[in-house]
Amino acid sequence: MPTKIVILTGAGISAESGLSTFRAQNGLWEGYNVDDVATYEGYLRDPNMVHNFYNMLRRKLQSPTVKPNKAHIALAKLENKLGSENVTVVTQNVDNLHEQAGSKNIIHMHGELLKVRNEKTGKIADCFNDIEYSKNHNIRPHIVWFGEIPLQMERIYNKLEHADYFISIGTSGNVYPAAGFVQIANQFGAKTIELNLEPSLKESLFKTKVYGPASKVIPEFVKQFLIDS
Ligand code: APR
Repeated sequence: MPTKIVILTGAGISAESGLSTFRAQNGLWEGYNVDDVATYEGYLRDPNMVHNFYNMLRRKLQSPTVKPNKAHIALAKLENKLGSENVTVVTQNVDNLHEQAGSKNIIHMHGELLKVRNEKTGKIADCFNDIEYSKNHNIRPHIVWFGEIPLQMERIYNKLEHADYFISIGTSGNVYPAAGFVQIANQFGAKTIELNLEPSLKESLFKTKVYGPASKVIPEFVKQFLIDS
């Protein structure tokens, strides 16, 4: 049986690509109230402001300076070498840097910045430009807000149950259900590994841990993993 790997990524993997993490100083929420821009209630209160916030993030993601870094590229290489059926990236990130790096088997559990959803029909469409709420009343960002259910959870739990390795990268372990994945992976017998800038809130649940910037730690880890496997 080939080795099955589930990789959970968070904002830390994209930090060196120029995208702010959520809980850092000067982070994404700086100047914005989370309740206003990342809840459905906030959206109902002021849809224009919420769209403008995601318009700003969408523009930033598409600026020429934002590119996948060595960590995204190393994960794409891992998938390329071991096969997409064996390597799954479950990301909390709404950016598309894993795709840009060449990863194929990606689950965006918190949605995608470059997509929008029709609230009436549920239809999802690509979106690379600003949304004007006054002209698009039924269109919302395809983002999972606080209090909403993350996407593709059944598929994720299935992957976790069959994982030989669960590798968590660049996430602080603050937000569930992703923060609970390490416990599930442990229960199903996976080897659990944390690769992060610093110990996360879930650090004690991982068997192996390496701390440092993702652009350094991930390529080294992938290189060694491919030698050993
Ligand atoms: N390399 C590796 N890790 C890094 C780097 C780096 N260069 N820079 C920061 N980190 C680590 C931080 O130490 C922190 O532990 O990445 C983690 C980022 O944590 P958060 O900002 O909390 O982001 P994340 O865990 O992805 O947040 C989860 O919360 O707000 C919601 O929906 C949003 O998906 C997001 C979720």
